[in-house]
Amino acid sequence: MFHVKHAGSLDREPRERKDGVVPEPKTADGAVQDADQALDDGPVTESASPAKTSVLRIFAVANQKGGVGKTTTAVNLGAALADQGQRVLVVDLDPQGNATSGLGLDSQKIDVSLYDVLLHDVSMSECLQATGVERLMLAPSNLDLAGAEIELVPAFSRELRLRNAIGEVADAFDIVLIDCPPSLGLLTVNALAAATEVLVPIQCEYYALEGLGQLVTNVELVQRQLNKALVLSTIVLVMFDARTKLAEQVAAEVRHHFGDKVCRTVVPRTVRLSEAPSFGQPITVFDPLSRGAVAYRELAKEVARGAS
Ligand SMILES: Nc1ncnc2c1ncn2[C@@H]1O[C@H](COP(=O)(O)OP(=O)(O)OP(=O)(O)O)[C@@H](O)[C@H]1O
Ligand SMILES: [Mg+2]
Repeated sequence: MFHVKHAGSLDREPRERKDGVVPEPKTADGAVQDADQALDDGPVTESASPAKTSVLRIFAVANQKGGVGKTTTAVNLGAALADQGQRVLVVDLDPQGNATSGLGLDSQKIDVSLYDVLLHDVSMSECLQATGVERLMLAPSNLDLAGAEIELVPAFSRELRLRNAIGEVADAFDIVLIDCPPSLGLLTVNALAAATEVLVPIQCEYYALEGLGQLVTNVELVQRQLNKALVLSTIVLVMFDARTKLAEQVAAEVRHHFGDKVCRTVVPRTVRLSEAPSFGQPITVFDPLSRGAVAYRELAKEVARGAS
């Protein structure tokens, strides 16, 4: 009925940037390249990809609980994957704009944000920004997006806006990480409808599993009604504090529930990980030798190995 080209189903050949330039973060005065440049060489079409060598993987990084490490994981996993050669897009789907600021952009000074793409038919490529990490691009957001939950309600194909937007730029990326807000509203539904996989960060704390049933139910609903291909593929244990017995217990319980969906790599609780966002840098740049950076690099390898 909607004739949607699902980005997740597009096979295409990985392409190198032609200019070989390392993108710099765009500053408020627009000093650096625009997204079209960074996005390669023009419009994306299926006919431009004769050899089918890789499939775009789109992760909804979701957990409706607040403060469990969604943004930290989207930003740092994204940066580590980009360092390992993948062309990565982080989509900031949270009006708090934490992924945007965590990657060094001032969310108050964004000209075109994801809100304009979802609500005002602006093309996705117009909103994309380069970051300080080569091969890592960002679809930024700010508080404007807070209105989207309500403004989208009467909109045509309201659940599929993000899926269509990512479809426009699918050819330019290998992995998309959508940083979801801490709710199960229409924005998160957009993420689940756009995604091929769900990645759930779970904090190794008491009540970690609370609310996960609701998330799983929503994933199943979206699978049935909007996106048959969606899989809850990846659980990441984060904020693990090896000094506490509780963290061990929570990790064991999560592994018992979710089996091999749970990544072997566990992200430790470290001060450096919590400091990095205030410098607008992923941990791999802020402190590349820190335990947090090591963990996210290991996680990136594991996630990349999961590619079908
Ligand atoms: N492994 C970690 N070690 C220490 N601090 C961490 C770690 N992971 C995340 N944090 C900190 O915990 C807080 C919450 O993390 P984050 O913002 O990633 O969670 P979130 O799930 O995206 O939150 P929200 O639901 O509000 O979007 C942040 O201050 C972050 O810096
Ligand atoms: Mg967040």
